[in-house]
Amino acid sequence: MWEFWRRHKRKVYVTLGVVGSGYLLYKLYDGHRRRLSDLERELADERRNEELIRSQVKAHFENIQGIANSTTLPHVMRNLRSRIEEELDLALLTERLMKGKYQPNTLTAAEKLELWERLKILTFTRIVLSLWATTVLSLYIRVQVNILGRHLYIDTAHGLGTSCQLDEADLIDRDDEQQFLASADYLINVGLPALISSFETAASEVLKGKQLKDFFNTTLLHDTVLRILDTFMSMGSPHHWLGFLMPEHFKLYNSAATSSSSNTEPSPSSKFEQLMLEAQAVLSSSEFENILDLSLKTAVDVMMEDVTVLCGETNLKLGIPLAKLLPRLAHMSRILLEESNRNRYIQVVQDMPEVEMFFTLLYASTPAS
Ligand SMILES: *[C@@H]1O[C@H](CO)[C@@H](O)[C@H](O)[C@H]1NC(C)=O
Ligand SMILES: *[C@@H]1O[C@H](CO)[C@@H](O)[C@H](O)[C@H]1NC(C)=O
Repeated sequence: MWEFWRRHKRKVYVTLGVVGSGYLLYKLYDGHRRRLSDLERELADERRNEELIRSQVKAHFENIQGIANSTTLPHVMRNLRSRIEEELDLALLTERLMKGKYQPNTLTAAEKLELWERLKILTFTRIVLSLWATTVLSLYIRVQVNILGRHLYIDTAHGLGTSCQLDEADLIDRDDEQQFLASADYLINVGLPALISSFETAASEVLKGKQLKDFFNTTLLHDTVLRILDTFMSMGSPHHWLGFLMPEHFKLYNSAATSSSSNTEPSPSSKFEQLMLEAQAVLSSSEFENILDLSLKTAVDVMMEDVTVLCGETNLKLGIPLAKLLPRLAHMSRILLEESNRNRYIQVVQDMPEVEMFFTLLYASTPAS
């Protein structure tokens, strides 16, 4: 045996070596193969998850957008219209003036002049404010929808990654979603009186010295409306207009959600506050400023087409006295506050390529935290 070993030692080693390394290679190969198929399975799972996330998010996003289009925006527009009609009631002024016209003794010349002056300022206040509020609110609601959609994507992906259970995905709390969308009411419920008074100041400044017998043509009207908008937007601090749209302190406004007020330490902010902060960040960005500026200018252009038609084309191009223009402008402000599904202004602004691009980028961007 030893003799054999001594003689064949080398051969035995070599044989064992070959068999050994073959086995090792086989093991390696098998492990590799198994790892590869594991990896492939994982990748397939991931892809399936991603598809699930995508379809889940898409469905939910469309759901939110549907709610915003069919409920939030129409509701907001209805409220806006009735509140503006309440707060800026031109019919009363007009009635008193008409009465003065047919019963000459009821108004002194000074009273009559004052009423006309008031009607002039309020008519311009109303038309420019209606245009501004319609544009801003429809953009704001779209900002909200996109922020919700963005959160939804991140939360759904996160939920899938940790539990692989779609039902348990940490979706945005329905309450927070609804409260966030409901915050679009702030301008109407809280901000409107101060907004009206700011626009009144702007209109008074721009219309100073304009007489009722002065002729307004297309150029002058266009110019006047833009100047009132500019005067309003450049009043006070930059982004002061945001204060009419959103509460400064979300906690105070969101009173229903802070019932556990015994907790005085600065707790981690609620989802609602987080959503509001993000909306505020978007609205104060220079990109939004550009979009808003462009949207308002486009809306003014469209409005000029409508006013021109209302006045009879030749008339406004040649110019008509301000006193004759005022009732047409009052009529125009009702068109601006039309139901959202029939509102041409909302459609025109939302369909602008620049606006589309802004929202595509907003949805794709991750929120700053
Ligand atoms: C909602 O409105 C937006 C903007 O006008 C539009 O792009 C979208 O298709 C609408 N979505 C639904 C579900 O109606
Ligand atoms: C419109 O009116 C303004 C001021 O009254 C005048 O300067 C301008 O030339 C007019 N424009 C047209 C196109 O008639």
